[in-house]
Amino acid sequence: MRADGNRQPPDAGSRTEPLYRIGGSPREPRLPVRVVILGATGSIGVQAVDLAVQQPDRLQVVGLAAWSRVDELAALVRRLEAAGAASAPAVAFADPRAVSAAARDPLLGRRLLPPGPEGLDAIAALEGADCVVNGIVGAAGLAPTLAAAAAGRRIALANKESLVVGGGLVREAVLRGGAEIVPVDSEHSALAQCLSGRTAEELERLVLTASGGPFRTWKAAAMAAARKDEVLRHPTWNMGPKITVDSATLMNKGLEVIEAHVLFGVAYRDIEVVVHPGSIVHSLAVFRDGAVVAQLGAPDMRVPLLYALAGERHWPLATERLDLARLGELRFEAPDPERFPCLALARRAGEAGGRAPIILNAANETAVAALLDDRLGFADIAAVIAATLDDLPGGPVGSLAEALETDAAARRAAQRLIAVRARR
Ligand SMILES: NC(=O)c1ccc[n+]([C@@H]2O[C@H](COP(=O)([O-])OP(=O)(O)OC[C@H]3O[C@@H](n4cnc5c(N)ncnc54)[C@H](OP(=O)(O)O)[C@@H]3O)[C@@H](O)[C@H]2O)c1
Repeated sequence: MRADGNRQPPDAGSRTEPLYRIGGSPREPRLPVRVVILGATGSIGVQAVDLAVQQPDRLQVVGLAAWSRVDELAALVRRLEAAGAASAPAVAFADPRAVSAAARDPLLGRRLLPPGPEGLDAIAALEGADCVVNGIVGAAGLAPTLAAAAAGRRIALANKESLVVGGGLVREAVLRGGAEIVPVDSEHSALAQCLSGRTAEELERLVLTASGGPFRTWKAAAMAAARKDEVLRHPTWNMGPKITVDSATLMNKGLEVIEAHVLFGVAYRDIEVVVHPGSIVHSLAVFRDGAVVAQLGAPDMRVPLLYALAGERHWPLATERLDLARLGELRFEAPDPERFPCLALARRAGEAGGRAPIILNAANETAVAALLDDRLGFADIAAVIAATLDDLPGGPVGSLAEALETDAAARRAAQRLIAVRARR
């Protein structure tokens, strides 16, 4: 994202058409809801499976997809079938190498879709499904989101990268396909609940809460020397490794600012981030008369997941209930921009729009993978992302092919920067 003179970023002060249907009145869905779970073997995917196992009269799983973990997916199918929550579901693996093992498995071989992107798109648009949970990690989730949108599905979207990398493309596909996006990210689910029965015109501002991650109280020097196991020790949520690293850098909150802009159409300058250790208040909507509506609950991803699966209804769920008197108080503080530069990088990329958020996301995914692979230190993540954004040109993105080209170029540039750092 080369310097662009003094031109005001196009999206900084402007509202856009919300992708999420603000104030739409949810209808009780036809039961059972037939569900496809993408990223079924991951943290979000397994929690979606748990919900179906608990409520087979309401949720039937008709399709599951993963990258390559064949045995783990087979175990999930076995659990679902034993609970009466699935019957010979379709399965797909994005990694072509997984497919021969899956074909030999008596459970998975029954309805195995083609490997790679073709199978992933096919299962995302599976005939007869009502709802697609997208729990894939990273930009790889974009194409299946587009396929589900084109097929007119309700998409329970955990894969925030879809909206960061392809917000405009998803918007077009949703409109054309008559689809619906319901956010699963706890903050955006909270906002959707705060906005229930309201109109976009009533809304003034959004406040996203952030736990602050494991380094909230650490000094910069200690953060720079943080070990991988310290990065991966999240204080409140138990999640997959990529989002856990993103929570430590606050890039996760940066990606969520972009996600909130796309979903709710609110200008970037009206999306605030506040650190709230404990993760009890999941986010807040500020209305034009100064009224503030917040959504609270114990941190448990099954709550926003079930809310999305239920077509934005509160179905019964056995979870920890909040005990406010025991909690005593709720704390809030401003994020520290010096120690957490990723937040400002994401905001800048979101405001610039076009290629910038794609470059940001690709550089982040590459840097996080390098950290997980012990090739990059924690403090270098932000430096690699900033340098990649500086090195590559911005500009508009018109198609999925252009988005994927930009993504690939940014990953190559970030890899080069990481290799240079490793030689120092
Ligand atoms: N975890 C949470 O509590 C949470 C909360 C809010 C939002 N989210 C969002 O939800 C998404 C998933 O996060 P997670 O923590 O559940 O991730 P995760 O535990 O790492 O699971 C990722 C899943 O995606 C699959 N996958 C990986 N690469 C893929 C590819 N190229 N194509 C198709 N499938 C692929 C994996 O399959 P294999 O197992 O075969 O590798 C796995 O099933 C992320 O966008 C994250 O930001 C997660």
